[in-house]
Amino acid sequence: MDPKEAAAVKALELVEDGMILGLGTGTTAVHFINALGSRIRERRWHVRGVPTSERSRRQAEDRGISLVDLADVRKIDLAIDGADEADPNLNLIKGGGGALLREKLVAAAARELIVVGDSGKFKETLGAFPLPIAIVPFGWTATAARLERLGAEPRLRLDLETGRGPYVTDDGLYILDMEFGCIEDVAQLEREIKLVPGVVEVGLFVGMASRLILGYDDGHTKEILARR
Ligand code: 5RP
Repeated sequence: MDPKEAAAVKALELVEDGMILGLGTGTTAVHFINALGSRIRERRWHVRGVPTSERSRRQAEDRGISLVDLADVRKIDLAIDGADEADPNLNLIKGGGGALLREKLVAAAARELIVVGDSGKFKETLGAFPLPIAIVPFGWTATAARLERLGAEPRLRLDLETGRGPYVTDDGLYILDMEFGCIEDVAQLEREIKLVPGVVEVGLFVGMASRLILGYDDGHTKEILARR
């Protein structure tokens, strides 16, 4: 079994009938949404999902999962999402798929954020993966120049699908990717980035995840719980 699928299927064990679930974005989340759709059909469950991207919304609809807007729910029971990197304190880098803003809003509204991924996502320190930062397009070069003072070069993410111009998120934002190498203090860096005018959200998820489920090539999984 694909290690990402193994982790996603394991996460399904935490889901109960009646729950409202945050549905993540990315290749691991695709496995979870597929498995959830099958489970709902088999057991005739009444589960509703809050998608974190238009891609996940379309996939969930195709799989027959009832959806609800974040604006219309008071609390999400569980958010299940992937990550680009996770450290031993379950701090995360997210946004490789460009959905970091909605992913953070959904995670913040959830009682628990469950992170699923292959074992390669687990890192002693965060920062080898370029940190995604969602910014407003207006004056983006000036925003990039302000961010560069934090110690890494911002690269504007391009739209690889169309091959034309910058990648634009579901909320009309650009993304800058910044390779810090090794982030010593994730909470401090998150605060510093968020203070930069033009920044809407940063892909550092500090102290938000409660459980990390890692999948391995032979199909087994390992769980790491947050120390809180
Ligand atoms: C999307 C994300 C994804 O969760 C992250 O990029 C991991 O993706 P994948 O499951 O494809 O490895 O943050 O914005």
